[in-house]
Amino acid sequence: MSYVKVDNLVKKYGDLTAVDHLSFSVSKGKIFGLLGPNGAGKSTTLNVITTLTDFDKGEITIDGLDLRKDKTKIKKLIGMVPQDIAIYTHLNAFENVKFFASLYGLKGKELTEYSIEALEFVGLQDKMKLKPKKMSGGMRRRLNIACGIAHQPKLIILDEPTVGVDTQSREHILNSIQLLRDRGATVIYTSHYMQEVEEICDRIAIIDRGQLIACGTEPELVSMVTDVQTIYIETRLPYEFDSESFDRKIKLMPGVKGVTLEDSVIRVDISIGEDNITRIIQEFIDTGFPIISINSEVPNLDTLFLTLTGRELR
Ligand SMILES: Nc1ncnc2c1ncn2[C@@H]1O[C@H](COP(=O)(O)OP(=O)(O)OP(=O)(O)O)[C@@H](O)[C@H]1O
Ligand SMILES: [Mg+2]
Repeated sequence: MSYVKVDNLVKKYGDLTAVDHLSFSVSKGKIFGLLGPNGAGKSTTLNVITTLTDFDKGEITIDGLDLRKDKTKIKKLIGMVPQDIAIYTHLNAFENVKFFASLYGLKGKELTEYSIEALEFVGLQDKMKLKPKKMSGGMRRRLNIACGIAHQPKLIILDEPTVGVDTQSREHILNSIQLLRDRGATVIYTSHYMQEVEEICDRIAIIDRGQLIACGTEPELVSMVTDVQTIYIETRLPYEFDSESFDRKIKLMPGVKGVTLEDSVIRVDISIGEDNITRIIQEFIDTGFPIISINSEVPNLDTLFLTLTGRELR
């Protein structure tokens, strides 16, 4: 079931079409990733969905409500974590979260409880009294997230929440987002980090210059450009090794597209499939070749982007 449906969205800034007939839908209880380079139109799309920006054309529904007609009801469903950190420097962490949660109508005991829970959620429970100017960049990002989610929204929208944070904070943020999804929230997540999107998103839309380039699960997207992956097996070849007959044998195995031998490294191009790699490795073991190392080159979303647009993602 689609929780968010964006249909032919157009948003212009003067002569510039920032979002150009963009359509996608987000299933309830899933993490949907919007991936694209700088200026692709990710923030603009999110700002439209969160009702912060008006739009020129298109239809948007959220939880069955029409964005043009039901703005007030829709606003209550959404928690937004903006790309530019939006917190008050003169308020401490707890006061910041309480302030943003109170905008959604939370009061009294509930306001306090939900705010503490949000700070615990992002790992800032020990920093409740700390003001943002004494925080590290990663802590400010986490506080920014706590402010957006404290009222326990059904739809959480995060615009590049991990920019400028260290690996540990990033892992914490990514795990928290998955936990929010597991608790039932629907999440829209933008990034230009391909790896992050691959790691946490159930479905991904790749956008460029305001347009949808491709949409699907990661394997679906990768299969649009190739069905082949490459494995490199480093081995110790026996003396007087008969490479021709070995090549022939490997080439005849199901799924194998090509074999090349470079010194002691055997490169095998093989169809992406569940057991294909296992069968190749087993063949090496059965032949009695010692395996020194195995590396594989799996096509990723960078490859997809490059193939579809002729440019690098970043
Ligand atoms: N308020 C604005 N006025 C005019 N142009 C804008 C405005 N906001 C965004 N743009 C332009 O719209 C295009 C899309 O910008 P947007 O911020 O949506 O991209 P983005 O995908 O979020 O990029 P980034 O990864 O850098 O955050 C860009 O060309 C940008 O310069
Ligand atoms: Mg942006």
